[in-house]
Amino acid sequence: MVTAEDVTLVQSSWAKVAPMADTAADLFYGRLFEIDPPLKELFPEDMAAQKKNLMQTLAVCVNGLSDLGEIVPAVKALGQRHVGYKVKDEHYESVGAALLWSLSQGLGDDYTAETAEAWTKVYGVLSSTMKEAAAELV
Ligand code: HEM
Repeated sequence: MVTAEDVTLVQSSWAKVAPMADTAADLFYGRLFEIDPPLKELFPEDMAAQKKNLMQTLAVCVNGLSDLGEIVPAVKALGQRHVGYKVKDEHYESVGAALLWSLSQGLGDDYTAETAEAWTKVYGVLSSTMKEAAAELV
């Protein structure tokens, strides 16, 4: 369960990463394609728009965490659109690992065990919501 403390930790750590969004997005995709090279084929050649999209969506999700019910419909719709991008359930694991690694790089000493745990839970909720909505389409 995502607790109020988790939400606070995710939001305060995100506030530290947001000013370096471009670097964080570079770190994220660099790591993702390193740990799961075949995923590169799902993305367009020009990643600039994709990087911006990802960071903006994460920002909306992070800001919306205080009231999860509010963002669930948008997260479900996002999950269903990902079926069209050929994204499979197992890909969410690589994306989660790359996300946590990028956060650890961006946050340095501020990436505490509690912060890691909070992000793991939040990513778990977001990705499960996306995957469940995707499964409803099949
Ligand atoms: C919490 C998890 C995720 C978030 C917040 C997220 C966010 C986004 C956003 C905002 C877009 C832009 C298009 C749209 O809004 O429909 C997008 C597109 C895309 N995402 Fe994700 N995504 C997530 C997970 C994944 C995973 C696990 C994969 C697997 C590799 C993936 C691969 C893609 C691809 C291939 C596109 C389309 C790129 C294109 O053709 O322009 N995403 N994602």
